[in-house]
Amino acid sequence: MKVLISEDELQQGISKMATEINGQFGEQPLTVICVMTGSIILVADLIRQLTMPVKLGSVHASSYRGDTSRGELELDTSMLPDLNGTNALIVDDIFDTGHTLNAVHNHISRLGAATVQSAVLLYKHGRQELEFDVDFVGFEIPDEFVVGYGLDYQGIYRNLPYVGVLESGDLADEQENN
Ligand code: IMP
Ligand code: MG
Repeated sequence: MKVLISEDELQQGISKMATEINGQFGEQPLTVICVMTGSIILVADLIRQLTMPVKLGSVHASSYRGDTSRGELELDTSMLPDLNGTNALIVDDIFDTGHTLNAVHNHISRLGAATVQSAVLLYKHGRQELEFDVDFVGFEIPDEFVVGYGLDYQGIYRNLPYVGVLESGDLADEQENN
């Protein structure tokens, strides 16, 4: 495992994102939508630095079927609060192909939110498969599989306090341990 973004760097990037979001929305109420499970740690750190009245909702999205390749996207939106007329901010851990954020964005837009914007901790370069502009980005990263700070490989590593690159040796070790 190689550390890509340290704990200190993560906190700096998140503070910068929070400052941008505070600057954009001012005192307007914001409904933050946590895309579970990967963004849980980011959301916890980010919303404590937001200064407007914040409501919190969540959707559950899963596209990775225990591997590093993308599977069919499943979206559970049954836990969302009433979004009619609200400013919604979708927060996800990473923008990879863009399919997850695009699907969540389309769904939220249909629920009557006045504005729908998005924020991600990580934006992975060279993987985007559709037109989608993310409004707030913490860090741009190269096309490598990363874990930690919410991001998982086969359900583990989410609790790492830093973002690390899972190296091929780590993957092989995992397979041997299973
Ligand atoms: P997308 O739909 O291809 O943009 O993928 C977004 C989702 O895939 C993220 O919310 C993550 O859950 C997962 N994902 C994409 N890249 C990585 C990675 O490098 N590590 C862990 N999860 C990833
Ligand atoms: Mg995710």
